[in-house]
Amino acid sequence: MKVLVVDSGGRGHAIAWQFKNDPNVKEVICAPGNAGIALEIRCRNAKKSEEIIDLAKSEKVDLVFIGPESPLTNGIVDLLNSEDMPVVGPVKKASILEGSKAYTKLLCREIGVPVAEFEVFDGPEAAKDYIEYVKYPVVVKADGLAQGKGSIVCTDKQEAHQAVTQLMIEKIFGDAGNKVVIEKRLYGKEISFFVFTDGETIVPMPVAQDYKRAYDNDEGLNTGGMGAYSPHSLEGGELNKLVSEKVARPLIQGFSEKEGIPYKGVLYLGLMLVEETPYLLEANVRLGDPEAEVILPRLKTPMSDISFQIINGVLSEREVEWNQDYYCDVVAAAGRTKQFRNGKSKGWYSGYPARYGKGYPISGIEDINDPDCKIFFAGVSISEKKGLVTDGGRVLHVVGRGRTLQEARAVAYRNIAKIHFEGIRYRTDIGK
Ligand code: AMP
Ligand code: GLY
Repeated sequence: MKVLVVDSGGRGHAIAWQFKNDPNVKEVICAPGNAGIALEIRCRNAKKSEEIIDLAKSEKVDLVFIGPESPLTNGIVDLLNSEDMPVVGPVKKASILEGSKAYTKLLCREIGVPVAEFEVFDGPEAAKDYIEYVKYPVVVKADGLAQGKGSIVCTDKQEAHQAVTQLMIEKIFGDAGNKVVIEKRLYGKEISFFVFTDGETIVPMPVAQDYKRAYDNDEGLNTGGMGAYSPHSLEGGELNKLVSEKVARPLIQGFSEKEGIPYKGVLYLGLMLVEETPYLLEANVRLGDPEAEVILPRLKTPMSDISFQIINGVLSEREVEWNQDYYCDVVAAAGRTKQFRNGKSKGWYSGYPARYGKGYPISGIEDINDPDCKIFFAGVSISEKKGLVTDGGRVLHVVGRGRTLQEARAVAYRNIAKIHFEGIRYRTDIGK
């Protein structure tokens, strides 16, 4: 069969690579992909929903898998369904679980899924009054999509007021800040928990530890994720049972009872474990990035089989199998660089997740031929003169495999040390 993966980053590369190694799959296409993915998988420059539909039809693909949230919340699955094209991902109405944090929190409260105490506000004055009223530190969250940066964790009232000003008055994330959720700040163990679901059956995936902060020891700003590893020490039947019973099943069932449609695809639960209770911090309607880069390599069951089981509502028919190897992903990011225009210095950019430069040649990849190392490309493009160049904040993921976490970690760090581009920066404590 022929599969189309819609994505442009490291997660998309990991999904496409999984299909590439699937015995049922003859060809994989990635749209739009990137210049690094294109080294091993055919990429086509389709971005808008209509372009993707046209591509899927002209290439006569048998299956489409959607990576990121924005095409899902824009309704690409509904469009593909109307063309009778098999597709993995929730329809637009179901993508609201990520598209509106307020919707999901209110649903959780209604059906008894554990969430931190919260209120929803559509104006800054009432939001600020609430911050004065509550006696604990809060997290201020933009209701809509903000590329994973819309939640501001505050230590005091002053920071919380500033967060409301940024989201609701300065509109740093545009309309995503028309509403905010203000919730109690929780302290516990944070994990990302993913499930496949056909709307009825839930199949938990292995657990990954994500590293969200920019610098070592969890310092600096939140990013999309600077690295990850899997398996996690908490992974296993007990955690699966706890999260399935307390969060995943009630949320998927509660959603379908309320809206009259099933939730199908991948559901990502961002959880804070406080003692024995898994509190839902956020729900996402897709695989995580960089979590997918360490979870998918553990998949033994063909991805195409799981995809059609989800689509046909028969996920319970066959068990999904995973290997027990360790995978450790270290992200090479665009760090601090000096900027020039017309030969004149313009000062420094501090680097991802703040401003960063682009277009720096990437070298050293050709020196990596370690069977336990895989590179998933994220923010890269190709230049006629310079070859592969940086084109984003997270540039590439170096994933090591081993029988232990220490081994996997050593592979990733040994190989990332061979890569060079101007300003390259990575955390040195992933999996430590
Ligand atoms: P979210 O976009 O809701 O996943 O939030 C982004 C990050 O902020 C999470 O991964 C947590 O690290 C942190 N966070 C979100 N909500 C809370 C909370 N209620 N208490 C503590 N930290 C939180
Ligand atoms: N790693 C966090 C995310 O994908 O949203």
